[in-house]
Order: sequence, then structure tokens, then C-alpha cells
Amino acid sequence: MLNKVYDWIDERLDITPLWRDVADHEVPEHVNPAHHFSAFVYCFGGLTFFVVVIQVLSGMFLSMYYVPDIERAWESVYYLQNQVAFGQIVRGMHHWGASIVIVMMFLHTLRVFFQGAYKKPRELNWIVGVLIFFVMLALGLTGYLLPWDMKALNATKVTLDIAQSTPLIGDMLKTLLSGDEHIVGAETLTRFFAIHVFFLPAALLGLIGLHFLMIRKQGISGPL
Ligand code: HEM
Repeated sequence: MLNKVYDWIDERLDITPLWRDVADHEVPEHVNPAHHFSAFVYCFGGLTFFVVVIQVLSGMFLSMYYVPDIERAWESVYYLQNQVAFGQIVRGMHHWGASIVIVMMFLHTLRVFFQGAYKKPRELNWIVGVLIFFVMLALGLTGYLLPWDMKALNATKVTLDIAQSTPLIGDMLKTLLSGDEHIVGAETLTRFFAIHVFFLPAALLGLIGLHFLMIRKQGISGPL
């Protein structure tokens, strides 16, 4: 039955070469931890991606309950945490995942750096990596405000002050992030929310797509 469905689709869209391209691709021996244990360092990028997927999925579920409004944000998180079935575990995954993903990305960057994998011909992918790095840090900063508790408010005050200290465009940047009044208020929350759930994830997924396309095109570096 499944075979027939597959054949029906394949006849029309010629999908076999698509998955064959991935399935027949041989993983080089020097990146396979089954051959040399030290090759586990090549897994850091994939593990980072795994946590990114967890963050996206858990974030989608959180957004079903979260209310980006200064009167109700804290309460909506409290409700999610204490009343909603599996709410605590989903929030916990997103909370811990946010830190783990930064650690994993950092380990991956160290691997790429110390093996010199950023050198020709992979300079462009290193640059894409640096952009990803900033997007990930910005995701952490914007997400931190959303629970709207004292820790979030105080941390975001510091974030805005740091943004303001940028030479030349500091004031503009602070207005862009926090609104005209330059305080952590209603406008800041809706902006951080939009940036955290729409702008940055879209940018991140696009950049990761580019990252993977280049890896596929160039192959993995090494052996050393
Ligand atoms: C969400 C963050 C990231 C994800 C999911 C990711 C994913 C990956 C994956 C799966 C690979 C294949 C090899 C490996 O796993 O080591 C890779 C390679 C690479 N990554 Fe990343 N990466 C991320 C961030 C970064 C950052 C921040 C940089 C550098 C600033 C970077 C630079 C590179 C380079 C240059 C390669 C090619 C390495 C080689 O051919 O040996 N990546 N990345």
C-alpha cells in the first residue's frame, strides 16, 4: 500500500533523487566517533541544532498561553507553570534549553576555531556562523524580559543601557528597542515579544539553512 503511494508520488514529482542524495552521502571516517572517540567534537554543531529544534517546538507551545501585555504577562506565565498540563515541563525545557544551546554553540565554535575549519574555502560559512551567534544571543536577551518579573525588568534595563552606549546610533537603538519613553514598559514588552518570536527565529532558520547548504556543498573539513 505504502509502496503504491510512494510510486504514485514519485512518478509525478521524481522524489527518489532527493532523499537518495542524503541517504547515499557517506560520512567521512575522521568525523565518526565510532572510529575515533575524539571525533565527538564534530557532533557539537548537530547537537546545537537538536537543541534549537527543541527551543522552537517548546516556544510554539509556550506561545499558546503567553500574553504579551504588562498587566497579564507574569500571570500568564504563572498560570502556564502551575495550572496547565505539562506546562511546567515545557517551560522548563525552554528555560534550560536557552542556556544549553548557548553552551553547545560555544563548544561548536571552539571546535571550528581550534581546528582552523574557518579557513579557505569556509570563510563565508564562518561569517554566517558569526551572524547566527549574534542572533542566538539576541534571542536570549529578548526572551529574558518576557516573564515580566523583577529579574527580567532589571536585566532589560541593563540591556537597554548597553544598547544606548553604542557609538553614534546608541540613542536610536534604545528608542527602537524600548519605545519613545526609554523605559522598560508596555512598548518594550510587545517589541521584545515580536522580536523574540517572529523576527529572530525567522532570521535564525534562514541562516541555519544557509549554514547547512554550505556544509553540504563544501563537505566537512579535515582530517587534521
Ligand atoms: C545555531 C547555531 C549553529 C548550528 C546549529 C550549527 C551547525 C553546524 C553543523 C551541524 C555543522 C557540521 C559540522 C559540525 O557539527 O561541527 C557545522 C559546521 C560549521 N559551523 Fe556551525 N552551527 C552553528 C553555529 C556556528 C557558529 C556560531 C560558527 C562560527 C562563528 C559556525 C561555523 C561553522 C563552520 C565554519 C563550519 C564548517 C566546519 C567544517 O567544515 O569543519 N557555526 N555547523
